[in-house]
Amino acid sequence: MKILVTGGAGFIGSEFVRQAVKRGFNTVVVDKLTYAGDLERLKTVENKITFYKADITNKEFINWIFKKETPDIVVHWAAESHVDRSILDASPFIETNVKGTQVLLDAAKDNKISLFINVATDEVYGELGKEGQFFENTPLNPNSPYSASKAAADMLGRAYYRTYGLPVITIRPSNNYGYWQYPEKLIPVVILKALNNEPIPVYGTGENVREWLFVSDCAEAVFEIIEKGKPGEIYNIGSGEERKNIEVVKAILSILDKPESLITFVKDRPGHDFRYSLNTEKIEREIGWKAKTKFEEGIEETVKWYLDNMDWVNRKVETLKEYWKKVYRE
Ligand SMILES: NC(=O)c1ccc[n+]([C@@H]2O[C@H](COP(=O)([O-])OP(=O)(O)OC[C@H]3O[C@@H](n4cnc5c(N)ncnc54)[C@H](O)[C@@H]3O)[C@@H](O)[C@H]2O)c1
Repeated sequence: MKILVTGGAGFIGSEFVRQAVKRGFNTVVVDKLTYAGDLERLKTVENKITFYKADITNKEFINWIFKKETPDIVVHWAAESHVDRSILDASPFIETNVKGTQVLLDAAKDNKISLFINVATDEVYGELGKEGQFFENTPLNPNSPYSASKAAADMLGRAYYRTYGLPVITIRPSNNYGYWQYPEKLIPVVILKALNNEPIPVYGTGENVREWLFVSDCAEAVFEIIEKGKPGEIYNIGSGEERKNIEVVKAILSILDKPESLITFVKDRPGHDFRYSLNTEKIEREIGWKAKTKFEEGIEETVKWYLDNMDWVNRKVETLKEYWKKVYRE
């Protein structure tokens, strides 16, 4: 079975590729290698995959790859993925997330793909207050340029199923964390700042709630969906492990034995969604999948991974200094 993975040099995509190789899939990776992509994440499997450095918005090249490789399954992770960057400049988000998804859907349609996994996010639903959950049929109500572009891509996938009969499954995972995450997202930022005894920027009052899904659990869920999911369907992928941002920060400080005085509240992110929470009864009932990793275990493992991989992390940090000044007004 040949699987074509877009964004396979990214954080979640690379975990998916490592697992795909382990599971014996013939794996083709397509990635533009933006600031967020890095082939080091695929070092352990580099001789077992076929890699194309390609932009998913490049229709001719993408079509050429599909014709040459004739994949059975496409798993589409490639995206501009960071909300804060979408607030600074939405353009690449529209290009990659909307246009790039359309190019891939067309290539899949023209090349008779047997399954297209379209990766969306829980953020397409908008925000919740203290109560409630998002179900797969909850209307989409995105609030950031990032989530709006992902909602457009999500809807395009569903439209291609309905209009052309393209076998698309839509997945909406919650916030992922774990090894190899680029240190612009909350958890690696906190680990790094804490290790350097630097102020840890926390938006607003830190009360915002996210549902934390360990990256290997997320990838495993997708393999289960490939096997048992139904085209045209949507599956939420969540863990039930909801934590306030401030609780996440305190958990990391406690693991690293660092003082809470490092916490520095900064001006809130514009349009910051208060809470996300996925109802996961459908994936449990129809696919038989449930997340394995409790937040306390996953966060320990994550902190340990960063401590063991400081060379990689420090190289990334060098590229982030200017960006941090812009978003956290450092
Ligand atoms: N990280 C999360 O918590 C989370 C949660 C839910 C859904 N998602 C979705 O999962 C997917 C992967 O997220 P991630 O956190 O691993 O992202 P990431 O930013 O770490 O990786 C994205 C990858 O896509 C590649 N890419 C970007 N633009 C491209 C283009 N035009 N052509 C080809 N490749 C391109 C990048 O080089 C990078 O390797 C995204 O679709 C994201 O929206 C992420």
